[in-house]
Amino acid sequence: MGKITVKTFIERKKEREKLVLVTAYTYAQAKIAEAAGVDGVLVGDSLGMVIKGDANTLNVSLEELEYHTSCVKKGLTSPLLIADMPFLSYQSSVEKGIESAGRLIKRGAEAVKIEGGEEVAPLIEKLVRYGIPVMGHLGMTPQYIHSFGGYRLQAKSARARRKILEDARILEEAGVFSIVLELIPLEVAKEVTEKVNIPTIGIGAGPFTDGQILVFHDIMGLYPEFKPKFAKVYRDLFTEAVSGLKEFIMEVKEGQFPDEEHSFRLKK
Ligand code: KIV
Repeated sequence: MGKITVKTFIERKKEREKLVLVTAYTYAQAKIAEAAGVDGVLVGDSLGMVIKGDANTLNVSLEELEYHTSCVKKGLTSPLLIADMPFLSYQSSVEKGIESAGRLIKRGAEAVKIEGGEEVAPLIEKLVRYGIPVMGHLGMTPQYIHSFGGYRLQAKSARARRKILEDARILEEAGVFSIVLELIPLEVAKEVTEKVNIPTIGIGAGPFTDGQILVFHDIMGLYPEFKPKFAKVYRDLFTEAVSGLKEFIMEVKEGQFPDEEHSFRLKK
């Protein structure tokens, strides 16, 4: 597979070919995503929850995003690498946003993702003008969790539906190359997708978006106690890992490991 760029994303919408993205935070996950052939990898601020064990994404720092972006970068060749702009890395001023985005680009990101609608348009315009591609993010934007009163379905009322359509139009005009639509009714996601010329990437937004993104840990069954309705579990890695470790424990205790194959002898 050739190198996927932001231009590929736009072409895919024209060609009606679906885009598939996954999150990654480590070198190993990047290698897996590359080998599987995804189109894009997002170093998401979801790392607050799946890597750090926090209840939400608000306590993720720019330094943490920089560190994980550089880890993922080393394992990727073809997929587009997008890094999240974490909470408070851009809200206080456009200048701060440019500085933060630049730091992620220096660590290997090829685009940044910013949550929000018209309120972030001035920053997006500047970044795009300075050569930093931006992915938008509308719907259930986790950095607004306290205003939303929890992690819940958005754009349900006629007013909220109009607002998301208007925000999508504003983001497109500001220059984003794609928009993540999170946790919204499929009818609304379909309407947004039809109204914009850039690809929409859904997560909990139904089948009509131009692409899909899911969190690696959710689809690989790494947290059996957390199963969002929209995230299909494709593999049960938690059970696999526990069973592998149990075998290791048993073999050590019974003297079966290490065996001849996994040991060294002095040369005769
Ligand atoms: O942080 C993240 O992983 C995200 C995706 C869920 C879209 O924003």
